[in-house]
Amino acid sequence: MIICKAKDYKDLSRKAANIISAQVIMKPNCVLGLATGSSPVGTYEQLIERYKKGDLDFSCITSVNLDEYKGLAPDNDQSYRYFMNTNLFNHVNIDKTRTFVPNGLEPDSGKACREYDEIIEKAGGIDLQLLGLGHNGHIGFNEPSDAFTNGTNCVNLTESTIEANKRFFESEADVPRQAYTMGIRSIMMSKKILVVVSGEDKADILKKVVCGAITPKVPASVLQLHPDVTIVADDAARSLL
Ligand code: GLP
Repeated sequence: MIICKAKDYKDLSRKAANIISAQVIMKPNCVLGLATGSSPVGTYEQLIERYKKGDLDFSCITSVNLDEYKGLAPDNDQSYRYFMNTNLFNHVNIDKTRTFVPNGLEPDSGKACREYDEIIEKAGGIDLQLLGLGHNGHIGFNEPSDAFTNGTNCVNLTESTIEANKRFFESEADVPRQAYTMGIRSIMMSKKILVVVSGEDKADILKKVVCGAITPKVPASVLQLHPDVTIVADDAARSLL
């Protein structure tokens, strides 16, 4: 596990974008696992800038996103598909037919999860998976539990996650209670993993993830077992390490 030190959010975003850029340059037809949340927004801005300068080409990239709220349509401005379109896909030359997000509109959870696992498998697995970190240690929407998840699964969001994500919705009642998420096993099968962590409010959980016991109660702690993980964290997030 490499901890890459960043001064602040801007520095973190630049460094994370450097790592993704290197991946795209070295393997132009790679599969990128992408994430939502506030943490990767600056990284996406940097990637867009580099694309506009002519330094990056996304035309052969395939992307698979970590998660999606169950019940939200792609054009709902709170859906993760909408987030990805507005924060990245609409601004670079990626072929949108090769960008995948779990199907939030599929009411049959078993079907939605099976189909998403097939998409990941057909793509040949993930070359580089970008992750944010939830305050309770979740990755994707894999919440603390008694066992690590395998493939894509439908989760009941915890109160802490609903609380953290309500800032994006009109009210807490509007936050969907369930989501489809790539499983821990699928994340761990990625060749490389890049985690972006910013802010003092993530310091405590980052310490548990990096130095604590490997336990499904802190889902991201499993990353300690992956052979190629880089965590880019700013000074505030690293303050307890
Ligand atoms: C959400 C997403 C996660 C994300 C997490 C942290 O729950 N499903 O993928 O990593 O929030 O978000 P933020 O980066 O805004 O703190």
